[in-house]
Amino acid sequence: MLTDELREKLIESALEARRWAYAPYSGYPVGAALLTASGRIYDGVNIENAAYPNTICAERVAVFKAVSEGEREFIAIAVVTSNAGAPCGACRQVLSEFGLDTLVLIADEQRNLMVETTVGELLPRAFGMEQVRK
Ligand code: THU
Repeated sequence: MLTDELREKLIESALEARRWAYAPYSGYPVGAALLTASGRIYDGVNIENAAYPNTICAERVAVFKAVSEGEREFIAIAVVTSNAGAPCGACRQVLSEFGLDTLVLIADEQRNLMVETTVGELLPRAFGMEQVRK
């Protein structure tokens, strides 16, 4: 369970990070903030590239920052965009690697929490470690 205070803190962190988004091509800045079991918050932004497919989403930047610092357990991720857009398929898959119960908070730039769901709900019948190992 996430307290209202933590919900607001995560959305605020994602909103603050969003200012650093590098999105000159789409003009669609995204900010993400990931709360780990250790209580830390890792933020991320989308980083675009002139060679478009090299672009990376805000959610994956946040996950990779956390994992590269030893984090493995995630409680929740907040994603902030102008219109409360949902995480893309690639980000759902990457998040699923670390747990289907991670909460996903989708908010707009006015801090309105539009959707609260889980990675498992966003990615039913996820492909995971069990499939690879059997
Ligand atoms: N984007 C994200 O950062 N997260 C998502 O889940 C959806 C899309 C970014 C990628 C690109 O820089 C821009 O939004 C438009 O697709």
